[in-house]
Amino acid sequence: MKGRSIVPLALGCACLLTLILPFQVLGEDAEIKSLKAEALSIAKRFAGKLKPRLKEALKNGGPVKAIEVCSKEAPRIARELSLETGWQVKRVSLKPRNRRTASPDQWERAILQKFNERRALGEPPDELAHGEIVDSRFRFLKAQPVESLCLLCHGETIAEPVKNALRLHYPNDKATGYSVGEIRGAFSLSKNL
Ligand code: HEC
Repeated sequence: MKGRSIVPLALGCACLLTLILPFQVLGEDAEIKSLKAEALSIAKRFAGKLKPRLKEALKNGGPVKAIEVCSKEAPRIARELSLETGWQVKRVSLKPRNRRTASPDQWERAILQKFNERRALGEPPDELAHGEIVDSRFRFLKAQPVESLCLLCHGETIAEPVKNALRLHYPNDKATGYSVGEIRGAFSLSKNL
């Protein structure tokens, strides 16, 4: 009887704590939290739009065709999301394939290097994200880990026709030699405050 009556009480306390704690801890950081949440949802939308297009292209035309789709679709989705949300949206990598769009600036480079360190220390790669205010801009990076699907075009051994297509489109391609779980790059978002 006694044991039972404690359960709802403990649950009630836990609920209250989860309600109260964020406000105490956050304080003035509430704005940052909400910017982070907004950026994360845009990054997820980016991935949610791109991956199905990639899978569809792979299924219908194979990797060589998918490279064409990827090279057009990825920048188009980034532009579309930027226009729609007012955030600057792009993807960056320490080993960029598209050197023109994906070369990281100093801040992005430092955070990407931290992501690699954090991953080496055991953080799950798909949860790696970082946001902060830099020079009156809120900047946010969300890591994009390598899955087995990605190896077709970013892996260690790449089929000859795929290699040739990549060479044609991206003569300075650095984005191969990855294995599953490594960090391929990141969605990079920023917003003027
Ligand atoms: C069919 C080949 C193909 C597959 C499969 C593929 N990619 Fe790519 N990836 C590309 C191409 C092509 C680009 C360059 C796109 C551009 O020009 O913007 C690219 C670019 C990227 C970039 C942007 C940075 C850069 O280096 O230009 C990231 C990040 C990325 N890929 C991650 C992934 C991840 C993660 C997966 C697996 C879920 C994946 N890719 C699967 C072909 C592929």
